[in-house]
Amino acid sequence: MITETATTATLSLGRPDDWHVHLRDGAMLDAVAPFTARRFGRAIIMPNLDPPITDRGMAKSYRERIFEALGDKRGDFQPLMTCYLTERTDGRDLAAGYADGIFAAAKLYPAGATTNSAAGVTDMARISGVLEVMQKAGMPLLVHGEVTDPGVDIFDREAVFIERVLEPLLGQFPELPIVFEHITTEQAVDFVRGRAGRLAATITAHHLMINRNAIFEGGIRPHYYCLPVAKRERHRLALRQAATSGEACFFLGTDSAPHVQGAKEQACGCAGIFSAPAAIELYAQVFEDEGALGKLEAFASLNGAGFYGLPASEDRITLERKEWWVTEAVALADGQVIRPLMAGERLNWRLAGA
Ligand code: NCD
Ligand code: ZN
Repeated sequence: MITETATTATLSLGRPDDWHVHLRDGAMLDAVAPFTARRFGRAIIMPNLDPPITDRGMAKSYRERIFEALGDKRGDFQPLMTCYLTERTDGRDLAAGYADGIFAAAKLYPAGATTNSAAGVTDMARISGVLEVMQKAGMPLLVHGEVTDPGVDIFDREAVFIERVLEPLLGQFPELPIVFEHITTEQAVDFVRGRAGRLAATITAHHLMINRNAIFEGGIRPHYYCLPVAKRERHRLALRQAATSGEACFFLGTDSAPHVQGAKEQACGCAGIFSAPAAIELYAQVFEDEGALGKLEAFASLNGAGFYGLPASEDRITLERKEWWVTEAVALADGQVIRPLMAGERLNWRLAGA
């Protein structure tokens, strides 16, 4: 609901959820988790720690560490834990974890596709037993949708993944709910749309905001580097259209993926964009630019819950149309810093009370 007065506009929406976020661990977790908990009611927590979260016991203690890191900033925030699939995943532990509510989903990283994915899957046939168990339980499979074949151009890895992996997977497991994570191409938009209902996709704020030119504008810009890498402008436009369409198969997943500045600004910089300090505000900006603020609630607060079979939040947040500047850097306890997306830049929508 948008309310306008002469000077300010406010936008009230059901408390949004972030269906894909990296909170990390230790000092990094302490520094970043409050940004997510402040904005979102629930978040799907990525399991690609080192070592990865591969069983119920690890997920339980990670969830405890998240609560400890939040302390009195926890509020009603609910971290939804995920299991990192490996070729040794125990299907019984996974199913029990889903039944107990410890796991909300399992994450498939093709081995070598992205940060901390070395323990991931090299051959889908090796996890077919586990996928069978998940299908039976109705447990969502979250996929990092890129092939790792070095012969495939990095800008084509998502589109090739659709043909080589995703399409056969949907055929083999017709009842398995799948989320195609952080989509970046018009091929992915079309593919998801054509299979809405059992296939859905998360879309990040950064892929709605930047195309691949941004990574090379005036020099190499490590803070715009993430995986899947940003694509051509026509893909960004397709993503903006999908996100703002209100269609139930598209929902918010920031993929906020913090790395300290020194790990990004170096000869071989890490992939990952840290958007948590302004996550919902960035999306609001995009939706406003598209003239689609009325569709933000569907994308941010309703569609994801619907896909996961969870109730939408009864809580609400308010965004005000008031300029503010994104923090330049977030400091860790040891003095290292993380630079957020749009660091030091102005945004038009601000979270009331933040
Ligand atoms: C993520 C990370 O740093 O953990 N990086 C990224 O570029 N998105 C991993 C991932 O989600 O691919
Ligand atoms: Zn991610």
